Amino acid sequence: MREEVLHHLDCHPGGIYVDGTVGMGGHAAAILESIKPDGILVGIDWDEDSLHIARGHLAPFGNRVILVKGNFADLPLISQELRFEKVDGVLLDLGISSYHLEQSGRGFSFKQDEILDMRIDKQNPLTARHIVNRFPERELEKIIREYGEERWARRIAKVIGRQREREPLNTAVQLASLVASAIPRKFHPANIHPATRTFQALRIAVNRELENLARAIQGVVSLLKPGGRLCIISFHSLEDRIVKRKFQEMEQTGLLGERPVLRRITRKPIIPSPEECAANPRARSAKLRVAERLAA
Ligand SMILES: C[S@@+](CC[C@H](N)C(=O)[O-])C[C@H]1O[C@@H](n2cnc3c(N)ncnc32)[C@H](O)[C@@H]1O
Repeated sequence: MREEVLHHLDCHPGGIYVDGTVGMGGHAAAILESIKPDGILVGIDWDEDSLHIARGHLAPFGNRVILVKGNFADLPLISQELRFEKVDGVLLDLGISSYHLEQSGRGFSFKQDEILDMRIDKQNPLTARHIVNRFPERELEKIIREYGEERWARRIAKVIGRQREREPLNTAVQLASLVASAIPRKFHPANIHPATRTFQALRIAVNRELENLARAIQGVVSLLKPGGRLCIISFHSLEDRIVKRKFQEMEQTGLLGERPVLRRITRKPIIPSPEECAANPRARSAKLRVAERLAA
C-alpha cells in the first residue's frame, strides 16, 4: 500500500516525517523520494539488525535520513533526544518483516527449526521459550486465547504443560507440531497453519505489542503539527481494533478529555488491491487507517 501511504501522509518537500517501523527501509525510501530535495525522515526500529539493513538501503539519501534504534511507543522521548519538536507525518507499519520470518533466526516462523525467541528487541529479557516453559498453564492459556483469538487455547496450553514436564520445549517446529496435535484435525483451519494463532499470541506477549501500540498513538498525536497525518497499517484484528478505538476517542474527546485532537481521514480501513495480495500474500490482512491532527 505504498502509494496509499504516500498519498495519505501528504508528503511534501521540506517536511519532517517519522517512519516508526523503518524495517528494511522500503516505505522510508519512497517517503524520502517524495520529500526531496530537503525533507527529513526519522526512521525508528526496535530491532538493531533491521536498522543495520535499512542503514545500507537508505545510505544514498545522506543526511536527510536519521536512523534510531528505539520503541515507537517512546517517540516523544526520542524526539526530545533528537531535538525535533513537531513533525508533518508519522507512519507505523506494524508487526514484523519478512526478514524476521525468514532470516533472523529467532523462531518467528513455525516453518523454521530455530530456538523460540521471538524478541524484536534482542535486549528484551522475555523470550517465547521462557513463556512456554515457565508461565503457569492458566496464564499461557489466557495469552493464547486473548492474543491469538484461539478457541483451542485450553487444549493447547494443556498439551504444552504435559510436554514440558517431560522435557523443555525449545524450537519453533517443535511447538508448531505440538499445537497441531492439540487441535482435532477436522478443526484445522483451511488456509493457515494450525499453529498460526498461537505463534501470533506469543509474539504479541513477548514484545508487548498491544501496549506499545496504544502508547504510541497517544505519543504520536502530541508530536504532530496541526494538519499532520498519522498512518497506521495493522495486520490483525486486535491491532486494528486498538487503532480504530483510539482514533474514535481522540476525535471525540481529545487527549485530556477536553477538545478533540484528531480527525479521522478514513472511516473504513483501506485494504490492498487484489493485485497486491496476489503479488504479496502477506498483504492479505493489511489495513490502513489515517487520522489528521487538529489545531490545538
Ligand atoms: C512490517 S515491518 C516494516 C516494514 C517497512 N515498512 C519496510 O518498508 O521495510 C515492521 C517493523 O517494525 C519493527 N517494530 C515492531 N515493533 C516495534 C516497536 N515497538 N518499535 C519500533 N519498531 C518496531 C519491526 O522490527 C519491523 O522491522
